[in-house]
Amino acid sequence: MPEPILLQTLKGKPTSRPPVWFMRQAGRVLPSYLKIKEKYSFWQMMQNPKVAAEVTLLPVYDLGVDAAILFSDILVIPYAMGMGLDFTDAGPVFEKPLAQRKNPLENLNPNPEKLFYIYDVVDEIIKTRPANTPLIGFCGAPLTVLLFMLQGLGRKGDFPDAVKFIYQNPETTQKLVDAITTLSIIYAKEQIRHGVEVFQLFDTHAGLLPFDMYKKLFLPATKKIAAAVREENIPFIFFPKGVGTGIAEITPEHCDFLSIDWQTPLTTARKLVHNDIGLQGNIDPRLLFASREEIERTLNNYIEFGNQHQNWIFNLGHGFIPGLPFENALFLADWVKNTDWKRNS
Ligand code: CP3
Repeated sequence: MPEPILLQTLKGKPTSRPPVWFMRQAGRVLPSYLKIKEKYSFWQMMQNPKVAAEVTLLPVYDLGVDAAILFSDILVIPYAMGMGLDFTDAGPVFEKPLAQRKNPLENLNPNPEKLFYIYDVVDEIIKTRPANTPLIGFCGAPLTVLLFMLQGLGRKGDFPDAVKFIYQNPETTQKLVDAITTLSIIYAKEQIRHGVEVFQLFDTHAGLLPFDMYKKLFLPATKKIAAAVREENIPFIFFPKGVGTGIAEITPEHCDFLSIDWQTPLTTARKLVHNDIGLQGNIDPRLLFASREEIERTLNNYIEFGNQHQNWIFNLGHGFIPGLPFENALFLADWVKNTDWKRNS
């Protein structure tokens, strides 16, 4: 059995084409997912190993992607720290946002056992997945997770109370970052023990703070989580969305591969990012609203890059959004697999 193409690329081996998977590939565009969603709430799906495993694997069958990503959410960490959480039509809502509490550290009670059901999901995926399909595990990076915990409700993504809190309470912020990091490391290692073969850290709102502040307060946590994952010999992908030229300051201590957002051209990213770090990305998911001609034109611009760079994973520059045409998502995956890449391998 050949090694899965995603793992080959992550290990620096040459391949005939780039591997392809998509952020949020399960939960937003698949007709098969939307059908299952009619019967269950998101929490129900996540907590039922059979259903969560089925949903995790849907994109492998329906889109033909080269990997599955665990069907769960980054906000399971605050939930396991004792915060009441609901997923509503308006997005996730926390019961008592930390920015509204007198002492935000009080009553937080990290309990790793509250994550146990997720390892049952991982076990079920490993048992039922098709051969050659690596499983990607993930968690949220401390900044993005903390923003939701402080603000309580975050769909629009500006988190005003949370950012104010961070400026007003640097010491408490540091303690909260440490608590999130500690539980995230336990969570990551346990996912790996149950069979995930790649790990991605999502920092969707990394661009919300000045980069210098992000670097000082939050990037050290990325280093710790990366080190814990790599101790298990598992490759580590980091997605700090919106940091702009900050990608030049990401070092191999932070990750093996850096996931580039859609704002930054991939060729620019390649010039800025440390040579020992591979790249992932970076199609704007909203491109899938455009005409097929426009989509193809954009994709064709990636051919030269892919021929010149083996250390590249084809992906989006942020997750799929609801309402994108499924056929265009399928077209993207097929395009990667059917393009006549001219690589020397
Ligand atoms: O393909 C997948 O969907 C994989 C599983 C996955 C989910 N969330 C499921 C989900 C992953 C990898 C995430 C990550 C996540 N969650 C991030 C980082 C990546 C990104 O998209 O920016 C963030 C910021 C969250 C927090 C979160 N969870 C928000 C803002 C929302 C509401 C809006 C939405 O649709 O994402 C969620 C809920 C959520 N997470 C749903 C799903 C399938 C929707 C639940 C529902 O429809 O009721």
